Amino acid sequence: MTRRLGVLISGRGSNLQAILAAINGGALDATVAVVISNKAEAAGLTFARRAGVPTEVLDHRGFRSRAEYDTALVKRLREYDVGLVCLAGFMRFLSPVFVNAFPHAILNVHPSLLPAFPGVDAQTQALAHGVKVAGCTVHFVTEELDAGPIVMQATVPVRPDDTSETLAARILAEEHRLYPAAIALVLSGGWRIEGRRFLAPDGAGVQR
Ligand code: GRF
Repeated sequence: MTRRLGVLISGRGSNLQAILAAINGGALDATVAVVISNKAEAAGLTFARRAGVPTEVLDHRGFRSRAEYDTALVKRLREYDVGLVCLAGFMRFLSPVFVNAFPHAILNVHPSLLPAFPGVDAQTQALAHGVKVAGCTVHFVTEELDAGPIVMQATVPVRPDDTSETLAARILAEEHRLYPAAIALVLSGGWRIEGRRFLAPDGAGVQR
């Protein structure tokens, strides 16, 4: 796997910023080869351009099907010689066309302790269930939504007076720590996948 990352975004891009900060700070030995957004107005694009990172907009509305869009996305990522795809707030469900093009080479960060609370509004789901501990997960992307092998997780406490916003902010701070660490772990190699399980060489995985 090359150390060339393709980061896919749809919006704010704070995880993208965390990845770039980890690279610039020497904690992550990688290059962001390209940032691709399906939305031209994504704030993360502005940040990437200012940071001198190549950006592309691939608007899904110009395509007739999900498979056609995903084919174009794969082609674009290949043009930049991307070895590891990092979804960072990319609000699109990926088809088999995409998932099969990058086997065990697509990561996502999700704001819950998967397999609890997949899908949208994970923090609201967590509060509604009255969980006492929440967190975030970096996992490989498979065809099943938010269900691929878990690479790393981090936990945060849930406070009695939390709103979705306060909990989301606490989780997001952990995402920014976790995602670069998980990318570094995947790039370092030596791991294997057994069924749903990601097995790191030294049992690395949970961050506290
Ligand atoms: C994060 O909460 C991430 O877990 C979810 O989408 C959000 C993206 O935030 N998948 P940002 O665009 O990285 O700021």
